Order: sequence, then C-alpha cells, then structure tokens
Amino acid sequence: MTNAAPGPAVAIIGTGAMGSGIAQVAAQAGCSVHLVDALPGAAAAARDRLAATLDRLAGKGRISREDADAATARLTVTETVADLPPCALVIEAIREDLADKRAIFAALAERQPADTLLASNTSSLDVSAIADGIAHPGRVLGLHFFNPPPLMRLVEVVHGDRTDDAVLERATELMRAWGKTPVRCTSTPGFIVNRVARPFYGEAQRMVEAGVADPATIDYALRELAGFRMGPLELTDLIGQDVNLAVGTSVWEQTGRDERYAPTDYQRRLVRDGHLGRKSGRGVFTYDDTGRPQGVVPDEDLARRLVAGPVVTNPVARTLAMLVNEAVDLVARGEASAEDVDTAMRLGTNYPRGPLEWGAEIGLDVVAAQLAELDAAFPGGRYRPSPALASAGTGTTGPAERLDGAEGPEGADLAHVRRMWADDRASAGLGMELVHLDLDRARVRLTVGEAMVNGHEIAHGGFIFTLADSAFALACNSRGRLTVAAGADITFVAAARLGDVLVAEATQRTAYGRSGLTDVTVTRESDGAVIAEFRGRSRSLVSKEK
Ligand code: NAI
Repeated sequence: MTNAAPGPAVAIIGTGAMGSGIAQVAAQAGCSVHLVDALPGAAAAARDRLAATLDRLAGKGRISREDADAATARLTVTETVADLPPCALVIEAIREDLADKRAIFAALAERQPADTLLASNTSSLDVSAIADGIAHPGRVLGLHFFNPPPLMRLVEVVHGDRTDDAVLERATELMRAWGKTPVRCTSTPGFIVNRVARPFYGEAQRMVEAGVADPATIDYALRELAGFRMGPLELTDLIGQDVNLAVGTSVWEQTGRDERYAPTDYQRRLVRDGHLGRKSGRGVFTYDDTGRPQGVVPDEDLARRLVAGPVVTNPVARTLAMLVNEAVDLVARGEASAEDVDTAMRLGTNYPRGPLEWGAEIGLDVVAAQLAELDAAFPGGRYRPSPALASAGTGTTGPAERLDGAEGPEGADLAHVRRMWADDRASAGLGMELVHLDLDRARVRLTVGEAMVNGHEIAHGGFIFTLADSAFALACNSRGRLTVAAGADITFVAAARLGDVLVAEATQRTAYGRSGLTDVTVTRESDGAVIAEFRGRSRSLVSKEK
C-alpha cells in the first residue's frame, strides 16, 4: 500500500508510547499522519524517533528503503488540534484522564467535518462518556490498540451508546486496511481483553496468598501444563504490578466493585512496597541487572499433583473455569460475539486458545460444576457462574453441540472398544474383567488380591483408582472416539479388603463437542457398599477414521 496514492489524512493526538506506535502503523499503511502533542517538542521528537525506527527496519531488510522513506515523509508535526486539516480519522492517545479527553474531543468536534471518525485509544474510560456533549456524537468510537501497536495485530473497535453503525463499519474496514485484526465490543469496563483476562492474574495471586504453592510453581503449572505463553505472576512482573493493579481496580470500580474483579491484597502489597516487577528489579520475583529472574525453581511434582487434584487448589482448572465464565458472560450480555472474544484473547493476550473454544472442549457443565465447588469453598460471589453458563450446565442452552445419551455423530463402535480392552495388558495383569459394555456405559470387575493390600489387608487406593479409570476409559471410547483422560477426581468412601470383589460402573453424564464428563462408582459386589466415587473429564483427540 505504501507506493499507492496517498491514503486518507489521519491525526494522532498524544505522541507517547501508544500514539507514536499508531502513527507508525498509519504511515506504513499509506496515510498522511499529523502528530499533535501538548508537550512542546514531543511531537517532533516522536517523528524523529519514528524516522529512526523506519530507517532501522529498512537497514535490517524488514521493509524496503523506499517504503521507509515514503512512510517517514508522511509524518507531519502539527502544533495544535486547531491547526489540523480536515481528516478522515483522528485517534486520541493522550494520558488516561476523562476531563482532558473530553476537552480534546470537544475541540475536534468543533473543527473537524461531521463525517470524521473521532476515536479514543482509551483502555479504561467509557467511550460514551468521552462523547458526551459534543456535536455529532455518532462519529465517536474507541479504537483500542495494544502495546506495541506496530507488532500487535488486535484492535478492539469499541462502540459507545450513540456510535453510528456506519462509523463502526468504516473504522473496522480501515483497521483491516492497516493490516490489523479488528474485533467489535461495547464500551463495557475493560472491553474484551482487559475484562476477560482479569482472573488469569487474580486466581494465581489468590493461590499464592493462600499458600497453595509458591509463585514459580503456579507459573509452571499454567505455562508448562496448561500451555499459556507466560505464567500469570511473571507476566504481571513484566507488565508492571502497578499498571496491572490500576487496570484491575478500574474494572472493579466500574462494575460497582463486583467481587469477580476485586484486586488482591497480595498485589496491593507488592505495589505499596515498590515491588513493581522487572522495571523496579523486584516484583513477585527478583531480577538481576539484565532483567533475568533470580532463583526461580518451580516444584514440578507439586504442580502436577495440583493439576490432577480438586479444582480449589488446581491452578489450571481454577483459572480456566474463571476465564470461560467471563467469556460466556460477556457474550451472553451481548457485549461481543463469541468469535471476537476468542480472537481477542488469542491475539491480545497470546492465549493458546480462545476461552470459549476451551470451554467447549472442557465442557460447560464441567466448568459450571467447578465454579459451584469454588463458590462453596469461597462464598461471596466471586465464583458465581454466569447465568448462561449455569443454564448450559443443565442443558437448556450452550454454544457447543450436546450429545448426552443420544446417538452421537460418530455412532457406536463397541467392537473397537472390545479390541482396545483385549489389548490392555495392564488391566488383564490385575485380573480385571469387562462385565458390561454399552454406549457411554461400562462395568468392570476386580478381585482384591494379595499384591493389592497393605499390612492391614486394606486395598491400596491406587488399585481402586485403576479399576475406576479402566471403566471410565471404556465408557468414553464407546462411540469410536480416541479419548484420553483430561483429569479425574476420586473420593474414597469406604475401605476395600483382601478378597472383596469390586465393581466399577461408569456412565458418561454429558458430552460437549470433543469433551465429556463421566461418573464412575466403585461398589463391593457382595453388599453393594460404595467404596469410591470417581469423576473423570475426557477429551477425544480425533475422531477415529471411518
Ligand atoms: P504516554 O504517557 O506514553 O503518552 C501520552 C502523551 O500524550 C504524552 O506525550 C503527553 O505529552 C501527551 N498529552 C497529554 N495530555 C495531552 C493533551 N491534552 N493534548 C495533547 N497531548 C497530550 O501514554 P500512553 O501509554 O501512550 O497512553 C496513551 C493512551 O493510550 C491512554 O489513554 C492509555 O490508557 C491508552 N493505552 C495505553 C496502553 C499502554 O500499554 N501504554 C495500551 C492501550 C491503550
């Protein structure tokens, strides 16, 4: 685009970190860009910095010398808003202060044509409040870029109460022309990314505060076991604890101090003590002069045990349940589409998957059950499930396909499961026998032998778990899927003794898309006494070839 006819005129008000980055994007996309800053010399300094950046990019061969020179030539310093020519788009990126922003928008509304798009890059203010009292408020919208704007593809296109649809369309198209990925949302506190991401930080801080594990271990669980790019604690050190706390506090205040977004004492203490993260040499972790964290040694075994354990102390499960809940809630309230929420979280926060896609995979009923458990453990409203999630859990609605006991798309393939069982040497070695197999249902029997008991002739829990797990696997695979356990909780109710015959009965309770929840009850055959209850979450890897 850089060699094409000059693009539309664009003005950037405020040429700090965000404004100058946005100016670079606009200039590289072919727009003539006017830079305005209240601080004398700041706009000129920004232009010089951008010229040097573009020169460096050309030097490294990332862009052509011709394109770099053309983009630099498109940058103009303009003294004040009053001096601007008519522009197609003005983006305000001054400091986060409502009164200051309103003054800028009032001045722009007086001087710019009625069809100029007037956008704010605000990250926490209400776009409707910024547009208050100006002529033609329908042209005001939010264009929330992410830092650094030249590298981050995501732009949240935010509509206030009065923003015209045509204005949103034009802004969305323009962002695409700039090579960005626009997503739409209402002017809800935190928009999409800063709202949905809150529990990613909050749950980790709460678990550290409660002594579930040290920060390095919590980060390890979320990074290495759940697939996030960075752990939440190291990430807040990178962002700056003060910046992260300010965003969280703003969302909390704007939602009427909703418990879901309440900042933690843990983070408040870090900020109070000046432990702001990498920039101050100490945050959650301590950093050397080169910015490397010191003495970060996760307890990997503990992380694995926590991830396999109950949700209350399970960093992944707990964080994911809250992220999914936030995302489901945002979509149910009509603030953004499901697709845009997933796109925003993948691009804005680098999550490996969108939370709604993740929720469908875990099973929304599983998430609802996890939140119920958390709510019981920590009452007060923080863990209340979104009404949309609660109804998904009972099957009345939900974004993902619900299979339940009905014939699934894969159909029955019990012969496949029988073959799988016949090849299962581990189960055969323990003397397990398959008593019953049906769609989503299996029963397996085991006699407690000498090798399975301790000195008191009580069966080791591991064997009971193995029995339950075998029944679970058979029930999960009964539809011809290749299914693995995604997690399981077992509760031991009574002891089993040498010679007892135990029966594990597995029933798939629900399935959403590729995930399911299967209950297994282990009973003693002679008197029907319940020995253990097992709840397993399954995930099918791929559908078996037909
Ligand atoms: P910054 O402090 O780096 O830059 C602000 C610039 O605006 C400064 O150059 C300042 O001299 C100028 N300025 C202040 N008042 C002005 C006025 N009345 N008229 C003209 N210029 C004025 O701030 P930063 O980080 O670039 O943030 C700007 C906006 O972008 C804020 O609304 C912020 O919430 C938002 N934002 C910031 C992100 C970040 O990571 N820093 C990410 C996304 C949005």
